[in-house]
Amino acid sequence: MPKIAVLPGDGIGQEIIPQAVRVLKAVLAEADADFEFQDYPVGGAAIELVGKALPEETLQGCREADAVLLGAVGGHQWDHLPASERPETAALLGLRKGLNFYANIRPVRMIPSLLATSTLKEDVLDGVDMVVIRELTGGVYFGEKGRSENPRSAYDKMTYSEEEIRRILVQGFETAMLRSKKLCSVDKANVLETSRLWREIANELAKEYPDVELTHMYVDNAAMQLVRNPKQFDVIVTENMFGDILTDLASMLGGSIGMLSSASLSGTQGMYEPAHGSAPDIAGKNLANPLATILSAALMLRYSFGMEAEALRIEKAVEKVLEQGYRTGDLAQAGDKVVGTIEMGDAILAAL
Ligand code: IPM
Ligand code: MG
Repeated sequence: MPKIAVLPGDGIGQEIIPQAVRVLKAVLAEADADFEFQDYPVGGAAIELVGKALPEETLQGCREADAVLLGAVGGHQWDHLPASERPETAALLGLRKGLNFYANIRPVRMIPSLLATSTLKEDVLDGVDMVVIRELTGGVYFGEKGRSENPRSAYDKMTYSEEEIRRILVQGFETAMLRSKKLCSVDKANVLETSRLWREIANELAKEYPDVELTHMYVDNAAMQLVRNPKQFDVIVTENMFGDILTDLASMLGGSIGMLSSASLSGTQGMYEPAHGSAPDIAGKNLANPLATILSAALMLRYSFGMEAEALRIEKAVEKVLEQGYRTGDLAQAGDKVVGTIEMGDAILAAL
């Protein structure tokens, strides 16, 4: 029986995950598919419970599972902890690295009924449909870091091996082959040596994918182009930190960061989580938007279990509910019917 490790984590993670699990269970029941769901503590919740953001039992549970569904981690209570203990680094980065989830896939699509939600002009957004592939286990996030005193200084080293670059670029080319065969590789090759190696390898690989039109763009220009004319992009591939920043930016092209789902793949396993954080300011108030998590659950069915029809059912249900006018606070305009996290989950279940 396929196993799903469920890690709600902190803040709104505790509210959005139950909604995604309800949706998954409903879809799986109708497909006559038997799955096992097992909850594990992670992040600040795990610190409070057992004193560690990523307990061994959680890591082991995730290793043994076919897929991991993660909410969010972090909160002000744990901000003072050193990097090696903080929820974001110890738990989230620990899971990514520990299970080798190197390929992070973040689809950005403008659902027509959300056109008015974004702060950007409707004609710029209408028809946006792209996927950002972010390298997730290398670069400056995982490089050597340190401090010295008197005078104070700090450093974070950015390193990439050929193998790390190649496998994420392959993911980019393969994704492009399945879509419009356009791949934009984003780097900072005018300044960074890691980017120069990145670009070199991208050009080498391009020879193996003659059908794919490869372009290169500097990350600062990419940020501007994403806002100026996002429809020029189809598949973007980029390194870890550039991908972190650009996907938050790109989330506004899909209406709200509360809509941005993500899949992190290792080649054998997948972890699925919304791209947003734990939002401590609205946690525990039934205000959070569960749709990014519900859409991440759809990605799980697609990428981990090959259940394309069921993934589409969930995605269609999300579109339908938005067409019907249901909005959580982050999506609401004046005059909209604003619903809570649970009610949004109810609406999705009804739409299924
Ligand atoms: C993301 C998040 C994380 C990241 C944080 C919480 C460490 O912003 O998944 O985009 O920077 O990768
Ligand atoms: Mg981020």
